[in-house]
Order: sequence, then C-alpha cells, then structure tokens
Amino acid sequence: KKVAVIIAAAGSGKRMGSGIPKQFLEIEGKSVLVKTALAFSQNQYVDGFFVVTGKDFVERTEELLKSMDKFMGIAVGGAERQDSVYKGLEMLPEDTDYVLVHDAARPFITQNVIDLVIEKSVEKGAAVAAVPVKDTIKTVDEQGVFTNTLPRDQLRCIQTPQGFQKELLIKAYKKAFAENYYGTDDAVLIERTGFPVHLVDGDYSNIKITTKEDMPMECRIGTGYDV
Ligand code: CTP
Ligand code: MG
Repeated sequence: KKVAVIIAAAGSGKRMGSGIPKQFLEIEGKSVLVKTALAFSQNQYVDGFFVVTGKDFVERTEELLKSMDKFMGIAVGGAERQDSVYKGLEMLPEDTDYVLVHDAARPFITQNVIDLVIEKSVEKGAAVAAVPVKDTIKTVDEQGVFTNTLPRDQLRCIQTPQGFQKELLIKAYKKAFAENYYGTDDAVLIERTGFPVHLVDGDYSNIKITTKEDMPMECRIGTGYDV
C-alpha cells in the first residue's frame, strides 16, 4: 500500500502575529516546517510527502526541503485550509492508496502517533489522532452568559495527522465544495458523508503552534514578541 502525506503550510499565521508565517519560525535551530517534514521523511510507512505553501513562499519552501528524503513537491495553497489541502490532493500520484493530512504547525508529532494513524486508516478507512479534553468546555451567548456545559468525557481535542483511504477523502472534499461547506479539519468532511472516522491516541505534546505562548520561551526572545 502506498502512503502519501500532505503537509498544510499555506496559512498566514494571523493569531501568531509574527512577521513571517509561524511555519518558518525556528525552534532549536530548525524551522517549524522542517521539523514537521522530517518526521514524515523518517517514518517507516510513508512513501512521500507534499507540501502546500503560500504563493509567496514557494522558493523558500523548496530551498528548505529540496534535499530531504521523500520530498515529492510543492502545491500553492488557497484561502482556507480546506482549499489548500485540496490543492495537495490534486497533486497525488495515481498509485497512492492512503493519504495523511498534517498541519505544518504541529512540529512535535511523534513516529508513534504517525504509525498509529496509518495503521488505523489502513484498517478502517479513516482515522484521526485525538486526546481527551483537559478543561471544562462551555457554550456562551452574545451577552457573555454561559448556556451549556458539555460532558467532558465525550469530548476530544482533535489533532493531525488525519489518515484516509484516498478515494474516500477526495469524494468527501468534492461533496463539501459542492455544498459550499467549510470545515476546520479533514475528518468532518468524511463524517458528513456518513462514513465512520476512528480515533487513535494522539499525544499532548503534539500541539498546533497557534499563538506566541505555543512557542518555546527561548524562541520568543528577539522575535518582536518576547515575553
Ligand atoms: N493552512 C493552510 N492554508 C490555509 C490556512 C491554513 O495550509 N489557507 C495550514 C497552516 O499553515 C497550518 C494548518 O493549516 O499549518 C493549521 O492552520 P492554522 O493553525 O489555523 O494556521 P494559520 O491559518 O496560518 O493561522 P491563523 O488561523 O492564526 O491565521
Ligand atoms: Mg487558520
């Protein structure tokens, strides 16, 4: 079975608010994007990975990744994450059987979680890494008054990678675009087709770098958003 990975790296990092998109910030001397890509480059099951990047960052991305094992190419992203991932899907080789989608902004992904997602998606067709919610989650109205407290034991924080049988994912994407539906992850598009998506254990360290607090302290110094 052939496994391809799409790394979504075409966001602008509005919530991070750094000068350059967060995937190009450095942690321990490596850019976030390189750290993320290396994890897939080194995975035992992965045959190749594609990176979707912003139109102004194609050269920079190419430069960072061109010599990395299993690097297969670059697609130019779109306005929403969903548009970007679809650009990656359009690039997949004919013989791809399974697709993993991963956020470039999750550089702490472990080999173990990648393996679990691939194994479960090969077994079930669709699998997603997730961890139990730690905080209490409530809904709130416009007045700032809480309206509902959700049962925490039924809630999960959804991570990437998310793995799918290729045709299943492409069909789900086409359905979403036809209905003008935009989701915040890939799995929701599969869920909307009625196909079951299975959970595998993610890792609390597999955070999505989103705001400055998510960057290790030493990387904030001198970047214009030091503590
Ligand atoms: N992403 C993408 N194309 C987009 C938007 C997001 O490929 N049009 C990617 C990001 O680069 C990131 C991942 O999807 O790796 C998760 O998105 P998010 O954390 O929201 O990143 P940004 O959209 O860059 O951040 P923000 O929402 O704060 O602007
Ligand atoms: Mg975003």
